[in-house]
Amino acid sequence: MSNIVVIGAQWGDEGKGKIIDILTKDTDYVVRYQGGNNAGHTVVVGKEEIILHLIPSGILHKNKKCIIGNGVVIDPEALLSEVSYVKAKGISIGDNLGISDQAHVIFPYHKVLDKLREEKFSKTKIGTTGRGIGPCYTDKFSRAGIRIADLYNERIFKDKLESNMEEKNAIFSKVYNYKKFSFEKIYEQYREYAKIMKPHICNCSVVLNQAIKKKKRILFEGAQGTLLDIDHGTYPFVTSSNSTSGGACVGTGVGPTKIDKAIGIVKAYTTRVGEGPFPTEFSAELLNKIRQKGREFGATTGRPRRCGWFDAVICKNAVTVNGLDAIAVTKLDVLDEMPVLKICVGYKYKDKLYTDFPADLEVLWKAKPVYIECPGWLKDTSQAKKYMDLPANARKYLRKIEQLAGAKIEIISIGSDRNQTLFV
Ligand code: IMP
Repeated sequence: MSNIVVIGAQWGDEGKGKIIDILTKDTDYVVRYQGGNNAGHTVVVGKEEIILHLIPSGILHKNKKCIIGNGVVIDPEALLSEVSYVKAKGISIGDNLGISDQAHVIFPYHKVLDKLREEKFSKTKIGTTGRGIGPCYTDKFSRAGIRIADLYNERIFKDKLESNMEEKNAIFSKVYNYKKFSFEKIYEQYREYAKIMKPHICNCSVVLNQAIKKKKRILFEGAQGTLLDIDHGTYPFVTSSNSTSGGACVGTGVGPTKIDKAIGIVKAYTTRVGEGPFPTEFSAELLNKIRQKGREFGATTGRPRRCGWFDAVICKNAVTVNGLDAIAVTKLDVLDEMPVLKICVGYKYKDKLYTDFPADLEVLWKAKPVYIECPGWLKDTSQAKKYMDLPANARKYLRKIEQLAGAKIEIISIGSDRNQTLFV
């Protein structure tokens, strides 16, 4: 198996950063294909915690090529400050980083619009990260977006920016009573960003397909999670891109026949940040316990994450829509002190039992989860060196997840360190 796509199987924050970091040693290229700096991938190297938002986590390894694909939306200011952050950690960035010339660019007006929309229309608040992701993708799909390649063509960039700003400034003043943006300032600033990014600009599809011809291995690094996918998630409480495995093809220009395997990352329980339905959400007491033990605070915004029981309906859905060959279960150790664990196997609403993930928001908001119970193990799992070191009840819990999800567990993570990883 050479080309692998790794996705989040829940609402994001499943611990993809660590698993991708581990899989990177057996790959040549690591590619981001959707989302932007709304993502936060945490990798612990020794005693140091490194959080990446846009740059693929493969950058932490020597001799790996990292590409930001065409499906990603790029805030140049955030990208360049992340480059400085990574360099300050002693990691060199040169031709190991590529940026697709077809990726769309986030402008200051996208970020402001993202925040203003959330404030003004609080009834439809999504709880976004405020990074301008939604407004940038909106421009992309309304065909008004500005791509990286456009920044290098003075006339095209000027024309596009002018017409965008005419429209945006009208919206800012008429809808939001917000001050107008200055064309010159943004134009000059983005021409400057373009100069700095120039050595990294590439045709992502050409680079990756050439690499495939040379039998190089590619890891497609998904951001967010299946239920935040614009098509398959809890719409409208989703992000604006295809965070499922299919996004890897459109977001890089690599055909589906070239991807050999899909791995889904699931947390041993469930979390989500932002608004939206969450059927297995904990009550306050359990929530605090797991949030503290699991350090469940957003890597991008620092917001406390909502936490709940493992939801097998979600996981089964993720296996189906992503075509998962295998799953990796993370943060098993967080459950070490739980005497009993619940797994949701269906939702009940108005006498109907739902065992497939329903699209109807009313069902998701109001349904009662149907649980099975598993005995806890009340032992420290964080020091296990192999699968069989895990307590019998922990293995039973994992087997249950595997059986309900319909995909085999290949990796188990029992702590943030690279060494705290078990392969089944
Ligand atoms: P946006 O992507 O900033 O537009 O936010 C849309 C929704 O996706 C919100 O509920 C965010 O909290 C959520 N979201 C976006 N990125 C991530 C992520 O990396 N992890 C978890 N949730 C995310």
